[in-house]
Amino acid sequence: MAEAKIKVIMDEFITEEPKSKVLKSTEPDKVLKMEKLTLSDLPGVGAATAEKLEQAGYRDMMAVAVATLGELVETAGVTEAVARKMINAARDSMKMGFETGMEVLKKRALISKISTGCTNFDNLMGGGFETSAITECFGEFGSGKTQVGHLLCVNILKEDPDAHAVYIDTENTFRPERIKQFALGAGMNPEDALTRIMVARAFNSDHQMLLAEKVETMMAEQGKKVRLVVVDSLTSHFRAEFIGRGTLAERQQKLNRHMHTLAKIANTNNICVYVTNQVMAKPDQFFGDPTQAIGGHVVAHASTFRIYLRKGRKGTRVAKLIDAPNLADGEACFEVTEGGLVDVK
Ligand code: GTP
Ligand code: MG
Repeated sequence: MAEAKIKVIMDEFITEEPKSKVLKSTEPDKVLKMEKLTLSDLPGVGAATAEKLEQAGYRDMMAVAVATLGELVETAGVTEAVARKMINAARDSMKMGFETGMEVLKKRALISKISTGCTNFDNLMGGGFETSAITECFGEFGSGKTQVGHLLCVNILKEDPDAHAVYIDTENTFRPERIKQFALGAGMNPEDALTRIMVARAFNSDHQMLLAEKVETMMAEQGKKVRLVVVDSLTSHFRAEFIGRGTLAERQQKLNRHMHTLAKIANTNNICVYVTNQVMAKPDQFFGDPTQAIGGHVVAHASTFRIYLRKGRKGTRVAKLIDAPNLADGEACFEVTEGGLVDVK
């Protein structure tokens, strides 16, 4: 992809802060750091090869560590022997081995939770939406998925004055007016909230994938401490572009790659990734709820937490936690109001 095109796409991240004004994190230890080696530290990789690799999308050690020999020979123009050495060196530097349960526990201590501002919903989620994980919310139109996305933005920005949120909007439903209302409801300055949300409109699935891939580059280039990435909606473009059974395998492959990008963003930067998903009718289902999330097993497996949102009685909303690694399944009932979510007993 030409640099100019990437630049145009990146400019769609709305950001008004000059670099010099970017605040430094007050809790650097809250952000999990990646290995600091660069591509040119690999054996046989000079400046020219590193540039070729970067242009072909290999930006860090992980990308090289999981590449195949053929890919590297083709993109970097190196011999197979050099490619093998590069991959082995990248793998060594990645510490891709095992770690003890204690080490995992220590890492988990860095994880924080973003409150929904609603006790029922927070309790259901064990305190809020986790960082370093993907939380998927699926449900029919108007069930409140987009409202939750807006609210999480405001709440993380309120909790952490250095935090930024990224909103990848595929359906043109990001509303700054709604952010203002939620900010006022949460007792924070609406302009401060809006300044720290970077919004990008994704026009098709490729654009959406590219925007997600660019989040880490943007964090590095602009020095922003991103704590939340919202993808609203995760599946609408994929659903519209791949129609018919014949295209299913390709769609799932692309979705899988996108989910991997999002999982990597979440895990390596201690970011909360929130994705919304639509449902489709299952006309053959007579009992229970005749709806099913889009994206099949690919989305289901890649999401750490899955919530099913539905409309309840008298304008209420019911969130049902249906998949979580360490929480009991359950339900929370709330109402969407102008200033936020409120509990319904
Ligand atoms: P799709 O994107 O169409 O699949 O739906 P969604 O699940 O994203 O729905 P969304 O989050 O946009 O929820 C819309 C609903 O939120 C509306 O039908 C209202 O019930 C509620 N809502 C939105 N804004 C307001 C508001 O300012 N005040 C109140 N009281 N409710 C609101
Ligand atoms: Mg929506």
